[in-house]
Amino acid sequence: MKDMLNIALPKGRLGETVYRMFAEAGFSCPAIEEKSRKLIFENKEAGVRYFWAKPSDVAIYVERGAADIGVAGKDILLEYEPDVYELLDLGVGQCRMAVAAPRGYRDDGQHTLRVATKFPNITQRYYTSVGRDIDIIELNGSIEIAPILGLSDVIVDIVETGSTLRANHLEVIETILPISARLIANKANFNFKTEQTERLVRELSRPREA
Ligand code: PRP
Repeated sequence: MKDMLNIALPKGRLGETVYRMFAEAGFSCPAIEEKSRKLIFENKEAGVRYFWAKPSDVAIYVERGAADIGVAGKDILLEYEPDVYELLDLGVGQCRMAVAAPRGYRDDGQHTLRVATKFPNITQRYYTSVGRDIDIIELNGSIEIAPILGLSDVIVDIVETGSTLRANHLEVIETILPISARLIANKANFNFKTEQTERLVRELSRPREA
């Protein structure tokens, strides 16, 4: 039992995609596919226990060792800088962190730029790197409405298909970083579950037929 891998998956579409990758790699857990409100599932034969966590909480479970392994977006890793190992780019959940503004907006560079975002650290680092003074307005969601209502000049947010921006008459003015889902591991637990963890990484990295 102590050798089971505890794996935190991000609840939602990305987590379901990632679970299928784990299952195809030999770490299935049939109970997880049954429709229910349960959050923890295990398959002793495969040596795995999965649980669904809020995507932004996965790195907390892993950093503190409640999960040995987790899947988190690069955005979360860059924003919170958890003390974990980043083992693998899973190549899914691809999107980008970008600056967006109302169509036709131009920064005159004359005043402090007001930036609305859920990612204050990524935002601050980016604007420091380009030498621009900003005032960060930290929000928790629906960032796109901030410039429409005059709360901010621009936003820094995740853009995947771009449809949320288009629907709100906004456009990308600068791409900050590409984002994708990463396999992460607790540092201490990795030392005594090295073999299982490395097997998981190896199997997930093996090229598979579509
Ligand atoms: C993210 C992001 C955008 C949207 C971008 O929000 O904040 O709103 O997805 O996707 P698109 O380019 O495909 O339209 P998410 O769905 O994660 O919800 P949230 O705002 O509650 O974080």
